[in-house]
Order: sequence, then C-alpha cells, then structure tokens
Amino acid sequence: MNHASVTSLINRRTLLRQWSAGALGLMFVSGKLPSAFAADESRLLVHSKAPMNAEPSLPDLVRWWVTPVESFFIRSHGNTPEINADSFRLSVEGLVESPLMLSLAELGRLEQHAVTATLTCAGNRRSEHSRIKPVKGVQWREGAIGNAKWRGARLSDLLKKAGVRESAKHVWFEGLDAVDDGGKTFAFGGSIPLEKALLDRESSPGALLATTMNDKPLTADHGFPLRMVVPGYIGARSVKWLSKIVVSDRPSPNHFVADVYKLVDEGTLLEVAESGPIYRMPLNSAICTPTAGAALKPGRVEVTGYALPPGVPGVSIRKVEVSADSGRSWTEAKLTSMTSEFCWQLWSAEISVNSTTKELIVRAIDSRGEAQPEVVRWNAKGYLFNAWHHVPVN
Ligand code: MTE
Repeated sequence: MNHASVTSLINRRTLLRQWSAGALGLMFVSGKLPSAFAADESRLLVHSKAPMNAEPSLPDLVRWWVTPVESFFIRSHGNTPEINADSFRLSVEGLVESPLMLSLAELGRLEQHAVTATLTCAGNRRSEHSRIKPVKGVQWREGAIGNAKWRGARLSDLLKKAGVRESAKHVWFEGLDAVDDGGKTFAFGGSIPLEKALLDRESSPGALLATTMNDKPLTADHGFPLRMVVPGYIGARSVKWLSKIVVSDRPSPNHFVADVYKLVDEGTLLEVAESGPIYRMPLNSAICTPTAGAALKPGRVEVTGYALPPGVPGVSIRKVEVSADSGRSWTEAKLTSMTSEFCWQLWSAEISVNSTTKELIVRAIDSRGEAQPEVVRWNAKGYLFNAWHHVPVN
C-alpha cells in the first residue's frame, strides 16, 4: 500500500511543545482547551485533519503498555468541538426516577475510579479488508488502538443515583460534536446494554465517565472535558464530549448505532435493518516490529506486537504464536506485559529467519482456547478485521 498517498507526517512537535508548556495551564484555568493543542501530529500518521483521524506508527505503538496520549490514535467523525468546562453540564434522562443535570464539579463528587483499558476502532486494520476488495472510509492500518489509564465516576454509580426504572434495557450516550452525513448534521451517539453499564466489579470494570487520560485532563481530540470509556467494546461506544445520557428500553436510534457500526456483506438497507449493532471487539493480534518490507538478515530476529482479548469478562490472552514459514511451524511468544481482560497484551518472540522467509505471521489464542481466525469474511464497512496478521519481509 502506498502510505504516502493516504497519510502525511507533519512535524509540529517543537511548535506544540513551546506553545503547550505555557498555554495549557492557562487554558485549564479558563476551563477551555482549543483543539489546535490536542494532537501531536509529529507522532501520528494523519489520515484526515478535519475531522481528525490519525494513528501512530507500529514501532511507536508498542514501546509502552500504557500508550502516551501523543501516540494514541484519534478517530473523530466530526470536527473537535471547543467546550467550556465551566458551563458544561451532563444530563441523565429517560427511564430514570430522578433526571439529573450535573456540572463537572458535581460529577467529581461521585466516587472516582481508575481503569486501564484498551480502546480500539472497529475499523482498525480496514486497509487489509481493502486489499481483498476496496472498502470506503479511513484506511486504518494496525494502529487504531491504544491502552490508557482513565479516571472518573462509574456509569453504574451515576445510574444508581438517578434510579433506573425496571423497563430499562439500554443506555444511550450523546456527544457535543456536529457530524455531517448524508446532507444532515447531528451529534455522534452510542449505546450499550444496561447489563454492561452495571457490570462493575473491582476486577472487571463496566463503563467509566472519564475526565482524565493517563492522569491528565482529556485533550480536546480525546473528548475534553468528559467521555465514556466502555472496556472491551468497539471504540465507537466510548462517546467523546459526552453531554447526554438517556436510559431506554431499546438501543439508541442514533445513526452510529442504528446504521453505521454493523457487520454487513454489501450494506443494503435491508441488511442494515436486519443487523444488530456491534458491541465487542473480537480476538486480534498484530506484528509491530519488524515493519512491512523490512530487510532481515538470516538468523534470529526479535518480533514484537500486541494481541487483543475479545472483550468478554474474565477472558484474556493465553498464547501468541509467530511463524516465519507461512504457518507450517509456530514459535510461542513471551507475554511481556500485564495480562488483563480489557487490555491489550504486548508480546515478543525470537524467531529464526532465512533467505526463503517471505513473511512473518502472528495469531493469538484466548484463555477459553479460542484462536484468532486465519481468514475473515469481507464486509462492506470494513469492520473487525482480525485475521492472522501477515507482514511481508525481505
Ligand atoms: N465520540 C464522538 N462524540 N464523536 C466521534 O466521532 N468516535 C468514536 C469514539 N467516540 C467518536 C466518539 C470512535 S469511532 C472511536 S474508535 C473512539 O471514539 C476513538 O477515541 P479516540 O479518538 O479518543 O482514540
């Protein structure tokens, strides 16, 4: 793939550093964070700037288990809104006993929890779908994924405070952005089943109303001042710039739940109407070093990458295997990071290559014994690509 045609590497790091050192502090005092300060584009391959869609290079991605904000992918459907934190309010309405309207200070008075969770875009690896047959949309490589420490109130605590009515089954989220699609402008929305929202256990977080990412206030591109984080689910359910929660007896009618994030073969209206929304990410893995096209000397080579568990409570990565001979033999990788149900698993393997080695392949197996599929069925929207990851080498 010609990456240069779809991405640009823009070096604004120095400028951003100079500005941000003095300016960020001031902006938080005034409660506002202009979007221009949000993305460190020197660390990201930018697919589009308005809206901002960008991902890190693969070697950069796996240098840390907790991804620095500067290396964290950004996926936005509309432009990043500028939000005044002082006048910001979150409303909770629908099938609740007491509708709420809360400021950030009031949210801060709920018990605060820290959750480390991986966020992945449903379109991660879409460019591999497109190699089979072109798919519209951002041509994500394998970098639309990141692992961060989020902090904020639990959605379950907020729902308990509002008092959920018995008929409730789903929780809707709405952001403050304006997305243009099909001649209409509307806010991005998501929804999750009530059971997921209430799933809190110390070991297994349900969903968090996050105000910080890696111990700093959210940046504008990542949802300042408030976003959902729904561990184990596709990133689209982790609504940024969150301003409204609606408790309902059905999934949200928002375009991004009702029409967009669905697995469909051709994308006909009938297929879309017949398919349910996607919630969980499937088991996945990718090789991050060496990168595609690397020249390898015959001998031992270190291979590194990530694996993603399937978002099922209690299920983590058991094994990652790498092959240098088209899948005839496999070397078990060392799991080099923490193992956790809603976090990615970093790994590394030493593998022998020779002059006949054409590619490296990785596959993951989860703690239930389920293996990542060798191939996946093409789908019209290019979601959930999780076939064995192949990296051509020389
Ligand atoms: N929330 C709003 N309001 N608008 C959006 O466009 N994009 C979603 C989700 N939340 C989106 C949103 C998608 S598709 C993903 S993958 C994640 O945000 C990406 O989060 P990030 O940009 O912080 O990495």
